Amino acid sequence: MPLQQSCLCCRKLICLLCLVCPGRCIRLDSKVILNATRSNETLWRYFFPQHPTWDVSKNWVPYTECLIEDQCWCFHVEGSMSKVLNPRGAEKAFTLATGTPQDLTRSSQAKEDCSCFVPSCPSCCLFSDMRPAKLLAAIALMRKLKITHVVEDGRYGGLSALIYALHGFHVTSIEFLPLGHVSAALGSHGNVHLVDGDSRQKVVEVIEELQTSNAAVAVIFDGLKRFEAYEVYQKIASKVSLAIFDDTNIRDGFAFRQMLHERNHSSWSTDSRTFGRVLRAEEPVLQSLLQPLRGRKFMGGMEKLGRFHYTMVEGGQWPSEGVCEAW
Ligand SMILES: *[C@@H]1O[C@H](CO)[C@@H](O)[C@H](O)[C@H]1NC(C)=O
Ligand SMILES: *[C@@H]1O[C@H](CO)[C@@H](O)[C@H](O)[C@H]1NC(C)=O
Ligand SMILES: *[C@@H]1O[C@H](CO)[C@@H](O)[C@H](O)[C@H]1NC(C)=O
Repeated sequence: MPLQQSCLCCRKLICLLCLVCPGRCIRLDSKVILNATRSNETLWRYFFPQHPTWDVSKNWVPYTECLIEDQCWCFHVEGSMSKVLNPRGAEKAFTLATGTPQDLTRSSQAKEDCSCFVPSCPSCCLFSDMRPAKLLAAIALMRKLKITHVVEDGRYGGLSALIYALHGFHVTSIEFLPLGHVSAALGSHGNVHLVDGDSRQKVVEVIEELQTSNAAVAVIFDGLKRFEAYEVYQKIASKVSLAIFDDTNIRDGFAFRQMLHERNHSSWSTDSRTFGRVLRAEEPVLQSLLQPLRGRKFMGGMEKLGRFHYTMVEGGQWPSEGVCEAW
């Protein structure tokens, strides 16, 4: 790292000290991520338990207190994913390709059946397709960056929001088509704030609002994807420390990464080769807890969540002052 840059990075320290700590500033790269994921054994064991339980307060789980139903919509609908409980669900639905709900009643996909989660009690049942290694990398890095507030676009099954909250973050979770049992289950959690509506406006509003507090913010795009998410990101980039774009290894994901590169964004993805050893550590827990989903097909790919990767990007508030690692 050039001297000038490291001095800038360490502006809050005496510059003489900066001269002896070049390269200590946290940049978004494999080394920093691997270091972060290994720096707290309790956190590592939460995501990669040796003896997994179904208790989300003890270790990562793919879902909580849900029953599996096999007559469900194959796209994201409002209220309930079950065709039995929500027969008119297709009237307002998302396909994976767009951020605007459509009437899909006449689509061929409406005739297909997928599996889904339904609550086993009135205010319960959360689920998430965010694989444990991805949550671990996000939480570990966010702690290193002293992030206080996570803004999540795309709540869907709500479990990732709960997991961020369980690990000490304030969470604002945004969803255009909320599931009833998810809102009910999360609604009582003090650290999770639910916002329903079009995330293209809501993400900007929520982050504007957070400007009045001392929050250090990370934004996670898992509703809007890739280029669509980036359009929103451009409006708030200067106000967040970190942005995560999910599903950047499918569809136009590699074109998206290329665009990030061309625009000189500092970025890192979970399919980086060096992250392989963390991904391998999640195999036993996936083998064990995804067992009930085997042979089924879920909207969004819950049964094969080991296939999806995200890309992290340094935001405008990425700490460039006084974050010399060794101090
Ligand atoms: C992470 O980096 C810090 C600072 O450079 C170092 O002290 C620590 O030992 C590293 N931790 C691991 C697990 O590599
Ligand atoms: C390590 O992670 C656990 C689980 O999130 C947390 O409770 C604990 O405070 C962390 N320890 C440190 C030193 O940050
Ligand atoms: C990216 O960086 C290169 C080299 O510093 C520069 O020539 C180019 O104009 C930058 N591109 C953008 C979009 O900022």
